[in-house]
Amino acid sequence: MLYASASRDINGERLWAALEAMAEVGATPSGGVRRLALSDEDRAARDLLVRWLEGAGCAVRVDDLGNIYGRRAGTAADASPVVMGSHLDTVPTGGRFDGALGVLAALEVVRALNDADAATRRPLDVVCWTNEEGVRFAPAMMASGVVCGPLAQDDVYATADADGRTFQAELRRIGYAGSPSHRFAGAAAYLELHIEQGPVLERAGVQIGVVEGVEGISWGRVEIVGRAAHAGPTPIGDRRDALVAASRIVLAVRGLAEAAPGVRATVGRVDVAPNAINVVPGSVRLTADLRAPTTESLERALAALQAVCGKVAREDEVQARATEVWRSPPTPFAAEVVDAVALAAERRGYSALRLWAGAGHDAKYVAERAPAAMIFVPSAGGLSHNEEEWTAPDDCARGATVLLDAAVALAR
Ligand code: HGY
Ligand code: MN
Ligand code: MN
Repeated sequence: MLYASASRDINGERLWAALEAMAEVGATPSGGVRRLALSDEDRAARDLLVRWLEGAGCAVRVDDLGNIYGRRAGTAADASPVVMGSHLDTVPTGGRFDGALGVLAALEVVRALNDADAATRRPLDVVCWTNEEGVRFAPAMMASGVVCGPLAQDDVYATADADGRTFQAELRRIGYAGSPSHRFAGAAAYLELHIEQGPVLERAGVQIGVVEGVEGISWGRVEIVGRAAHAGPTPIGDRRDALVAASRIVLAVRGLAEAAPGVRATVGRVDVAPNAINVVPGSVRLTADLRAPTTESLERALAALQAVCGKVAREDEVQARATEVWRSPPTPFAAEVVDAVALAAERRGYSALRLWAGAGHDAKYVAERAPAAMIFVPSAGGLSHNEEEWTAPDDCARGATVLLDAAVALAR
């Protein structure tokens, strides 16, 4: 049959079984998933995906950033593909849906079209992007950022984790250092299904999020230097306590977010030195994660952070310096792809609302090389980056159905 009609259906049970099987890879005792980028668990997840892609008749290729592409041929071999996917790496205490739903729903679209013996004019590519989370190797969306965005491969290859292992060495170690000739080379459209990771859809009682863009992100490092001293004889008035100063900055970071509509600010990591019970902390390094809907509000949040560091430095007689290490500007998606998602949801009779993504996603960088959009499904309690992350089977199936219908429409 040529040109699958949108009446093709995904198999929700098969999708759920794939999610459960993938969640076994890097499963944590409390029901979450830990698959840090380029770890043994990431390798195992990749191996499983490659087996499934090959089992679905896809031609699999890997590029020099470890991105995996599984191609389902179209009737017009040289037509640019419709690409669907997300990531399989997770944060240390991650859930089973963040990223995996997008990759496995794309696989399910291929399987459903195979079941129906349905052809599409354009090829369909399932993609799994390397290191979306940016936790082990910063920044986030690293591999899509090289292939589609401004990040330099040499810098990425040289990036080291906390143990000094480089991205390049780990990519080779897990056997996913592929070829630059296999890189993403553009697409007619890119679609990414993802859990919302926030409370908007659930609170609105809406089934599908039609995502119009990705909000801005700034990652920074704050270094505070005081003076290590003996916790016993050193009078309080003589201390230059880096952790007390850092604590004031952490609370001020929360304050700057509360004062600015739409801005979120997080200090997720604190490293104290020398980190000893009887030593007044001499230095502290904080991370600062700022999110904002516009470049202006992001810039204002950054300026507020710099001002806080200056104020605390003066008052606590420490040095305090904030340095931005990564910036992902707010990115709107392509209207024609956003509309294809909205139409697919409407035709299925699903309730839908349009929103912007508060989390970063590979679609942000892909949107710089191809018309892109995302589909969200609700997160229970708005919770993600937490082992209790949950999205109901029916919501996963609805999201995959919208992905199928939008992909088929765009693959004509
Ligand atoms: O940080 C983010 O927003 C994404 O989860 N990597
Ligand atoms: Mn994600
Ligand atoms: Mn994530």
